[in-house]
Amino acid sequence: MRTPFVAGNWKMFTSADTARKLAAAIVAGLGNEMRVRVAVAPPFPYLALVGGVLQGSLVGLAGQNLYPEKEGAFTGEVSPTMLLDVGCRYVILGHSERRHKLDESDSFINRKVKAGLAAGLRVIFCVGETLEQREANHTEAILERQISQGLIDVSTSTDLPERLVIAYEPVWAIGTGHNATPDQAQQAHEFIRSRLAELFGQATAAQLVLQYGGSVKPDNAASLVKQPDVDGALVGGASLNADQFLAIVRAAVA
Ligand code: PGA
Repeated sequence: MRTPFVAGNWKMFTSADTARKLAAAIVAGLGNEMRVRVAVAPPFPYLALVGGVLQGSLVGLAGQNLYPEKEGAFTGEVSPTMLLDVGCRYVILGHSERRHKLDESDSFINRKVKAGLAAGLRVIFCVGETLEQREANHTEAILERQISQGLIDVSTSTDLPERLVIAYEPVWAIGTGHNATPDQAQQAHEFIRSRLAELFGQATAAQLVLQYGGSVKPDNAASLVKQPDVDGALVGGASLNADQFLAIVRAAVA
C-alpha cells in the first residue's frame, strides 16, 4: 500500500557536465516504471539544469536544503519558493551532515520543515543516531527527540503521507560502507512509525513512507527494503553512479 521511494542525495558532488549525464542516464533507465517513486537532489547550482533533463520524466527534483523564509536579506541562502520555482518537488531536511557538520538544531530544522511543507514541497525529514548514542543505548531516545522536536506544529492531515517522508539514517552508517543490518533498520523504523502514530494517528502513520539511508548499495538494498517498515532508500555515494542507483531502484520494486 505504500509506494517505495528511492532518492539520490548527490551532496556536494558532480559538475554541470556529470550532473547532466547522471540525470539523463537515470531518466533513461527508469523509463515508465511507476511502482517506485524516484527523486534526485543535485547541488543548488545544478538544480535548474538537472530539472531540464528531468522534464517530462518520472524522476522528481529535490533540494538538499532550504532557508525557512520566503525571501529577504539572507546572503547565500535559498528559499522554499525558489526551490519550487526551479522545479523542485522535494527537499531534504535535517540531514545528519547539516546537524553535525553545520550545527543545525532540532528547532531550526523544525522551522525548515514547516516552511517547506507550507510552501508545498514534499519534505524528506532525516533522523538518526551517532555511534556513541547507539552504543550507549540511546538510539530510541535520540529518534524520539529528533522526531518530536523536528515535527512540532506539523499537524496531521489526510494528505500528510504525500507531503512528508521520514528518512532513518544512522550517522555511523553514512558514507562508511557499514550499513545497518536489515534487523537494525527494521527495529528503528518500527519505533519511528510508532512515534508517528502517536503524533499523527495510526492510519496516517501506516501510510507514511520511511526510507532507510546509510551505505545503501545494490548488494544490500534488497534485504533492507524487504523489511516491513522500510519503504525505500535515501542514497548518497551509490546515487552518483547511474547503474548502481538504478539497481537500488529496481531492488525497491522487486
Ligand atoms: P551514503 O549517504 O549512501 O553515502 O552512506 C547516505 C546519505 O547521506 O543520505
